[in-house]
Amino acid sequence: MNKDVIIACDFASAEDCLAFLDKFKDVEHKPFLKIGMELYYAAGPEIVKELKKRGFKIFLDLKLHDIPNTVKKAMKVLSNLDVDMVNVHAAGTIEMMRAALEGLTREDGTRPLLIAVTQLTSTSEKAMREQLLIDASINDTIAKYAQNAKEAGLDGVVCSPLEAALVKEACGPDFKAITPGIRFADSKADDQVRITDPARAREIGSDFIVVGRPITAAADPVAAYNRCVSEFLGK
Ligand code: C5P
Repeated sequence: MNKDVIIACDFASAEDCLAFLDKFKDVEHKPFLKIGMELYYAAGPEIVKELKKRGFKIFLDLKLHDIPNTVKKAMKVLSNLDVDMVNVHAAGTIEMMRAALEGLTREDGTRPLLIAVTQLTSTSEKAMREQLLIDASINDTIAKYAQNAKEAGLDGVVCSPLEAALVKEACGPDFKAITPGIRFADSKADDQVRITDPARAREIGSDFIVVGRPITAAADPVAAYNRCVSEFLGK
């Protein structure tokens, strides 16, 4: 799958999401969408089916983390929804990630991309040390979790755009970096900390940028999306 801009559809209901997407009817480069826990728990598999019917690619961001057998079975269900990308927590271990991959792979051998969350960008080194009893640095943890994901056969990891180079160094150029934390050079950061703009994210090595509020809260979301596409993909 080629590099792309993914819009984070962080809406509380299917109605809000569909009303937002109606604005994109005439957009030349059809958006790739991320559906997270909020919208999925509110609107269920139906919203995924509806968006697939409308021709959107879907990254279902549910961050699974459970015993291997449960994750395997859950992934089989998600694979049948025909989504394009799903994820797990690398903290669930290599065995859990292998089980996820197995559950996701369809009888004909096809499957959605499977990526892992390393350390959440909201987790500080201090919290890792004091609460999780992890003494390694955050960068070493991210590199190790990314290597575990690669060993399990996954396609890439979610990380800050500033960590994309670190991930590529640890796992090779083909291992994908999916990066939230994107802001235009001239816009506000909101609650994001480790951010960069679309063009710089591409330079550092992002394969997919995940962009929420800079598009969803923009006065003109389509113009903001087109700007992301143009800065990130050079289109
Ligand atoms: O609005 P904003 O561009 O900050 O949205 C970023 C999206 O990426 C949100 O859906 C957020 O939950 C998600 N995300 C993130 N940082 C992570 C993992 C996911 O911002 N480490």
